[in-house]
Amino acid sequence: MSNQIPEEVIEEVRKANDIVDVIGEYVQLTKQGRNYFGLCPFHGEKTPSFSVTQEKQIFHCFGCGKGGNVVTFLMEMESFSFYESLEFLAKRTGISLPESSGQKRFSHSEENQSMLDAYEWLTKLYHHLLRFTKDGKAGYSYFKDRHINDETIEAFQLGFAPNAKDFIVEFLEKKGFNKQLLVKAGLVSLQEDNTVIDRFRGRIIFPIRNHLGKTVAFGARSINDQGPKYLNSSESELFHKGKLLYNFDLAKRYIRKENEAILFEGYMDVISAYQAGVKNVVATMGTAITEHQAKLLKRYVNEVVICYDGDAAGQEASYKAANLLRNAGCEVKVSYLKEGDDPDSFIKEHGGEAFRNQVIRASDTYITFYMRYIKKDYNLSLEAEKLNYIQKVLMELSMVESSIEREYYLQELSKEFEMPIEALREELEGISVKSANKQHKSVENSNTKKTGNYEVRRKLLPAFHNAERRVIYHMLLNEWVAERVQSEIGANFRVDDHKIIVTHLYGFYEAGNAPDVSKFIENITDEHLKQLITEIVMLPEMEEVIDKALQDYIHIIKEQTDEQSTISELKERLKVAEQESDPLKAAQIGQQILEIRRKLKKNS
Ligand code: CTP
Ligand code: MN
Repeated sequence: MSNQIPEEVIEEVRKANDIVDVIGEYVQLTKQGRNYFGLCPFHGEKTPSFSVTQEKQIFHCFGCGKGGNVVTFLMEMESFSFYESLEFLAKRTGISLPESSGQKRFSHSEENQSMLDAYEWLTKLYHHLLRFTKDGKAGYSYFKDRHINDETIEAFQLGFAPNAKDFIVEFLEKKGFNKQLLVKAGLVSLQEDNTVIDRFRGRIIFPIRNHLGKTVAFGARSINDQGPKYLNSSESELFHKGKLLYNFDLAKRYIRKENEAILFEGYMDVISAYQAGVKNVVATMGTAITEHQAKLLKRYVNEVVICYDGDAAGQEASYKAANLLRNAGCEVKVSYLKEGDDPDSFIKEHGGEAFRNQVIRASDTYITFYMRYIKKDYNLSLEAEKLNYIQKVLMELSMVESSIEREYYLQELSKEFEMPIEALREELEGISVKSANKQHKSVENSNTKKTGNYEVRRKLLPAFHNAERRVIYHMLLNEWVAERVQSEIGANFRVDDHKIIVTHLYGFYEAGNAPDVSKFIENITDEHLKQLITEIVMLPEMEEVIDKALQDYIHIIKEQTDEQSTISELKERLKVAEQESDPLKAAQIGQQILEIRRKLKKNS
């Protein structure tokens, strides 16, 4: 841990950044009692076991055990170094870190750091050329033709790569970047004669930013129908197409606000919608949405509207995306655009208001979309195929939980196919019974899984173990308890980890610190101990320390340690008796040990 930054500054930064706000930027948290809960960002799960407490400024996941304070959260989440976490938090709250704070330690390799720098320079350069120079005129006019205004060009840092082979190469070399790096970053291409040229020359540039707003790749679109429509930077350690969503950094606060994310296919869709005031928008980049991206969205929001192109390929992709997102636990809607339209062209033609009301607000529920989508597989003018189609829709309908919703779709079907609703309802009930039987087993399994972790583990711990945890809990929150325990039992806890924790804690208070779990954890380097402390602090239903209860806990621990030491003493004597070949004495001692053990077991 790099502690060259003064303790007071670390303290100030930590205090200025509420853990619930910071984590809230990554995880959808809901308040339950005193704590906040959400889906753990560190392991896959569908029911929340990740908790955050505002009072104590720490987080803990009962599923995977990870825990810590606001600084360690960012170290885990962003793979930041300690310094970078602090820098990030300082920036977030307008605190300046002292310049002389020693060596900056970056989590990125030097090479990746250089790539980021190169991307940052180039983003600025391409953007500047587009906006203000003759060389960028072609790109600027292109955006103007597509009704993109200056403010939007600014917001997305759109740019233009002039049609010159070595312009940017020279620029970057002057800045001290070496050719190899630029080739590796996919910014320039190596020619046969060993010279390098700008890969994106003559194209408009869409900087692709990661969730922190740093450019990690470019999408470069042709403006004259020559060559492939798009050239993108190659994948790198900094840029994985399948992990990143275009515009996520700008969109996430709007996604939160609207409680909904809109998913597009292309850069231009995002940019047009954003300009039209629909800002909770992100896009994949020319590939189908991945599980990783679906989970990312799910952490932020429940509802996702899929808004893809209105052609057959768009519908096909919508179906796949819908299922992937539903599997990740999202509620999905699918919007409907007519053949030949995409979100960008719709907005250009009808404006943002119409897009919001007639497309997004009018999106279909998944079932309605499904009913429309699978029609292409059936020839509905044939009676047999019609029945197959209905059967297929009913199968899907049997998985809808709400009976009101089910009824609604039954009516739709009944109207569309002029069938008595009773017949449809009966058919549906038949399917439901069948699938209920099938699912019964898997529900049972998942139930045991859910309780299989934390509660059970806790109940299985022996009494003294729980007593020790409870005492530590109160020691962490009240200095007087720590003092009392220290004078009564010192560090004589049975569980080794507990011993280490209380020893640290005595030191922490002796150094003049007031109770502050978040700060305490910061000085613990052992990952396992850190997790254990956060788990203890998150113990439910324990608020006030009652003197009597505390005394009881201490008593349990003491008794345990007393008897343990009696046992060790007896064992010593047993050894001596055996050495002295005194079988009678040995048997007596053995009996005593057994009795104490039996008693201990009974208490556990
Ligand atoms: N894409 C790509 N390479 C291609 C075509 C598409 O990487 N050759 C990706 C881009 O991320 C693009 C998205 O797929 O944004 C959607 O493609 P498309 O609809 O063809 O492009 P748009 O961005 O909508 O561009 P435009 O509106 O100018 O046609
Ligand atoms: Mn498009």
